[in-house]
Amino acid sequence: MELRKHPVFTYKGNALTCGGISLADIAAEHGTPVFVYSADALRKNYQRIRKAFAAAKPLIAYSVKANSNAAILRVLAAEGAGFDVVSANEMDRVLACGVAAERIIFAGVGKTTDEMARALRAGVKEFNVESPAEADRLDEVARRLKRVAPVAIRVNPNVDAKTHKFIATGKKENKFGMSLDAARDLACRIGELPGLRLDGIHAHIGSQILQAGPHAEAADILDTFLATLKADGHQLRTLNFGGGFGIAYSGEQQPLDLKPIAATVIGLAKKHGLSLLLEPGRSVIGPTGALLTSVQYIKRGSARTFVIVDAAMTELIRPALYEAHHDILPLVKSKKGEVVTADVVGPVCESGDFLAQEREMMLPAQDDLLAVVDAGAYCSAMSSNYNSRTRPAEVLVDDGKAYLIRRRETKADLTRHEVVPEYLK
Ligand code: LLP
Repeated sequence: MELRKHPVFTYKGNALTCGGISLADIAAEHGTPVFVYSADALRKNYQRIRKAFAAAKPLIAYSVKANSNAAILRVLAAEGAGFDVVSANEMDRVLACGVAAERIIFAGVGKTTDEMARALRAGVKEFNVESPAEADRLDEVARRLKRVAPVAIRVNPNVDAKTHKFIATGKKENKFGMSLDAARDLACRIGELPGLRLDGIHAHIGSQILQAGPHAEAADILDTFLATLKADGHQLRTLNFGGGFGIAYSGEQQPLDLKPIAATVIGLAKKHGLSLLLEPGRSVIGPTGALLTSVQYIKRGSARTFVIVDAAMTELIRPALYEAHHDILPLVKSKKGEVVTADVVGPVCESGDFLAQEREMMLPAQDDLLAVVDAGAYCSAMSSNYNSRTRPAEVLVDDGKAYLIRRRETKADLTRHEVVPEYLK
């Protein structure tokens, strides 16, 4: 069976490696399941985006929700990244890495008063405001703290991003952003809110977008809208075009070609005299990570063959949630063997607990090791303790060395926050 040539996890002889290190060695040292990331690939992905948009010198604000591990944030901070956060706790993770608050953008539909106050005190670069009610609250908080909040209004351009419906954010039925009419009204009203300063507009139409079309459509709509705002007398400074650049999850896919989008977006920013902000997450971290897992049992059911592994939806929920595809590569490549169509499933007590369904693969043996690739984004970050599973260890490979960047959770971590009332003891 032909195995995919992955850009980050490659075979040296028969052994799957990352940055020159055998993944089997990492599994032997840290156990499974374990996440492994390549720092080198992380830097390259970031620089690839930076280069594509270089003519606009944008602030490329890595979207922290994709993977918020401190070591990952520090690698990107050293590359000069900015950061897009969706909670004050994410902001604090970034600040704890020594990043200046002017490199942080705060997005999200449900910012609390407390989060607004924290971000105002820290001095973030911009708040992406998603509703008139949020603008009123931010104004109140800013006035109370005697600050002025820099604001970008998030518009919802009602564009079909042609991605899974759970990760589309730019259609009018999505909770994100405001219609152009509502955004225009708010832009006018901000002049009456002394706690706010209108800096720009923001749009993010969805995630894992593999076609240029939706981005171009959004850019077109923003172009007209920016002209309307100018005619209304607003002088803006920033254009935040969000993220959403898709990656290849299989050999049949091609990552989104950034060139045409960059040309459109750079042109748009220049035309309106705005400085450009971007918020990529997946395209920076996604391909750089793999989840290593060990085969527990092979079970030949009457309708299916199951490869039962020690990783589960608790570490990688994307297949269950979005029917997402992740390639699965054996840590040791073998030429001979039985090719089967199998479901790769975990031990969690849910029928939705699968990493792959009806996947053609070389049937592994018990105790063989597998790598679920392209697991850098939205995998560890979305992990849970369901079934009292402990979150896995995480390892960063950099310059030929493997570093532990998150300890495996322990049994004690599971009950750490539980409180047993006296009368039950
Ligand atoms: N900016 C905003 C405002 C966002 O909401 C997001 C992602 C991003 C930037 C980064 O988008 P990216 O470049 O990573 O596509 N859990 C889902 C993806 C959810 C995306 C949420 N927002 C998944 O696993 O596919």
